[in-house]
Amino acid sequence: MTFPVTRLRRSRKNEALRRLVRETRLAPASLVYPLFVCPGKGVRKEIVSMPGVFNLSVDEALKEAHEAKSLGLGGIILFGLPESKDEQATGAWMDDGIVQQATRAIKKDVKDLVVIADVCLCEYMSHGHCGVVKKSGDQYEILNDPSLEILAKTSVSLAKAGVDIIAPSDMMDGRVAAIREGLDSAGMTNTPILSYAAKFASGFYGPFREAADSAPQFGDRRSYQMDGANRREAMREIAADIEEGADMIMVKPAMPYLDVIAEARQRFDLPLAAYQVSGEYAMLQAAIRNGWLEKERVMMESLLSIRRAGADIILTYFAKEAARLIS
Ligand code: PBG
Repeated sequence: MTFPVTRLRRSRKNEALRRLVRETRLAPASLVYPLFVCPGKGVRKEIVSMPGVFNLSVDEALKEAHEAKSLGLGGIILFGLPESKDEQATGAWMDDGIVQQATRAIKKDVKDLVVIADVCLCEYMSHGHCGVVKKSGDQYEILNDPSLEILAKTSVSLAKAGVDIIAPSDMMDGRVAAIREGLDSAGMTNTPILSYAAKFASGFYGPFREAADSAPQFGDRRSYQMDGANRREAMREIAADIEEGADMIMVKPAMPYLDVIAEARQRFDLPLAAYQVSGEYAMLQAAIRNGWLEKERVMMESLLSIRRAGADIILTYFAKEAARLIS
C-alpha cells in the first residue's frame, strides 16, 4: 500500500488503550433508580413484566434507598400506588399520601441521597388519566387547566414532605409555571423542577402501567403526550418548559428517541435527563432471560448510547446493576 492509511485500530488493541481514549463514560452518580411504593409492611411484590423490579412498602423502599446511596447512585425517583383512587387524585396530594410517607422515611434515615418525586395524576385517578376528565356519553376530554391546580398542590405537598426535586410527567400545558408558582408561594423557592418536557405517547410504557396500576380505563394518552413523529415539536415543548421555569429537562422514552436527546443536548444548556422506560427494560430482560442477549453487554451498551446521545442523567431500572459494574 503506497498511500497513507489512517490506522484507527492502533488505539483499540487492548483494554488499557481503549479505556484511555474512551469518549463517553458512565458513572453511578448519573443514574437514577425508580421505586414503586405501595401500602403495607414487608411488601416486596415482583412486577411480572419487569423482572427484578418490585412494588415496595415504605419499609422496603427505605432499604432500597440505603442501597442506592451505598452504590453511589445519583438519586431515586418515587412513584406511588395509593390505597384508593378517586376523581380528584386525593392520594397524590394528601399529607400522608404514600409518596409523602416514603419521602419522610427516606429523608429521615438516608443522608445526601437525592429524592425525586414523579408528579402525575394517573396513578391516583380512578380513570387512570394524567389529568381531570370531563365525560359525556362516550366522549371524553382531559381538561388542562383544572389539572394544573391539582398538580401544583401535589408538588407543594411533596416538597413539604422533603422531596429534593419535583418531576412532573403529566404533559398538561403550563404545568411547570403552575407548579413553580405553587412552590414559590408556599415558600419552597429552593425546590427545583425536572420537567418531563418531551414525553412521547409510547407503547414502551406498557409494563409501567402494570407496576403503577395506572392504565387508562378508556381511551389513551395521545391527546396530551407527544406524537412520536415530532422532533421539532419536542424542541418547542422543551423551550416552553424552560421558559416556564424548569431547572432540568427530560426526554422520554430514551432509546427510540436518541435523536431527540441529541438535538436537545445541542440546543439547550440545562441538565438533560433521559428515561430508559419500563418497556425498554422489559424487552432487554425478556431477551436476556431467553439467552438471546448477553445481559451485561446490552445493559451497558444501552445506557452508554443514551449518554453518548447527550443525556447527563439516566433514569433506569438497571441503575443498581449498572452501578455495580462501573469501576
Ligand atoms: C406517569 C408516568 C408514566 C411513566 C412515568 N411517569 C406512565 C405513562 O405516562 O403512561 C412511564 C415510566 C416507564 O414506563 O418506565 N404519567
